[in-house]
Amino acid sequence: MGEIQRKVRVELGPDSYDIVIGRNLRQEVQDFVRGAGFSNKALLLTDSNVGPVYGEKVVSWLAEAGLVAALVTVPAGESSKSLSVAETVYTECIKAGLDRKSPVFALGGGVVGDLAGFIAATYMRGVPFVQLPTSLLAQVDSSVGGKVAVNHALGKNLIGAFYQPKAVFMDLEMMETLPAREISTGLGEVVKYGLIYDADFFAYLESHIEEILSLKHECLSHIIARSCEIKAAVVSEDEKEAGLRRILNFGHTIGHAIEKETGYARYNHGEAVAVGMVGALKLSIELGLLAEEVLPRTERLLRALKLPVRAEGCTVDDMYEDIFHDKKTVGGRVAWVLISAIGQTVCRSDVPESAVREAMAYCLAD
Ligand SMILES: NC(=O)c1ccc[n+]([C@@H]2O[C@H](COP(=O)([O-])OP(=O)(O)OC[C@H]3O[C@@H](n4cnc5c(N)ncnc54)[C@H](O)[C@@H]3O)[C@@H](O)[C@H]2O)c1
Ligand SMILES: [Zn+2]
Repeated sequence: MGEIQRKVRVELGPDSYDIVIGRNLRQEVQDFVRGAGFSNKALLLTDSNVGPVYGEKVVSWLAEAGLVAALVTVPAGESSKSLSVAETVYTECIKAGLDRKSPVFALGGGVVGDLAGFIAATYMRGVPFVQLPTSLLAQVDSSVGGKVAVNHALGKNLIGAFYQPKAVFMDLEMMETLPAREISTGLGEVVKYGLIYDADFFAYLESHIEEILSLKHECLSHIIARSCEIKAAVVSEDEKEAGLRRILNFGHTIGHAIEKETGYARYNHGEAVAVGMVGALKLSIELGLLAEEVLPRTERLLRALKLPVRAEGCTVDDMYEDIFHDKKTVGGRVAWVLISAIGQTVCRSDVPESAVREAMAYCLAD
């Protein structure tokens, strides 16, 4: 308590909501619950890493505010984002007697957030949803934008909806247990926000490496808040992904191909996106859009944040094939998000194959 708190408003008309960032948010969560008009039963969904450490604490916060929460713990990991796990959670909701005004709280990383959001969007045709994201990736990415989903055996995030939370609380005290590699994963997306939207923010990251990696409160809350503001600004203008929202896909075309070619095992998402951004910068330079110096500068930043800048275990031929199967590819044309300067995006769908292959070759390790 007593430490600086930040608030980011996500403006979406009647679906607008606040993101609160701080330490020990018990009071803030309770004040929100007391004023929200919920019924007195709730679901608190978490995973097997986060639940044992923070589950009971949050249950007691909610109890003090008059909410009886059923604590449901799913196995940690992407495989919990499935219809079969969702079905077991619906069963718990019904057994606990949850009604149409019962909120669903997500306590965990992006897996828990996406699954809980999917449950909230569908249980009784939609119940209130509240996020308590505990991983940096979930804080800077999945808790803004309202995309909720589960995976299908034939592809990731194929079954889902747009469903906004009523509020998001990021309690940085819960991040002390987050593994270092998961911090770096989230930082991949943070660097992306600098590259696509905010040169000053990019420079801030360059000059605060130590503080970022040691999760210094002031610095961490700033980078989370700024990332959420940038994503919120983009999403507010384009909630259902008609145009502008595409810029959030920077680094993801090649990043997704790397994830796929390495079986979603060698690199986690933020790491693959880091390499994908290197590829997108190389492509921007080859097309004469961007000054060459941005590439070594970005590679230096990514490396300092303990992110890879080259990928192993992929080939250009396979990756080139993959980009046409990406969910974001429409009508056989890849919509490339490139940059012309740090903070300035350019979208191109007429990029020659040879330039793409060269950029891909560049970001693969020899
Ligand atoms: N909805 C969206 O817009 C959106 C955006 C980006 C990513 N996603 C989704 O998010 C998921 C990835 O999110 P993620 O990286 O958070 O994965 P995750 O939820 O699997 O969390 C990563 C790991 O960290 C652990 N963890 C989380 N918080 C912790 C804490 N405070 N202390 C200790 N361990 C902790 C988790 O148990 C897990 O093992 C993917 O399924 C992806 O599709 C969704
Ligand atoms: Zn991403």
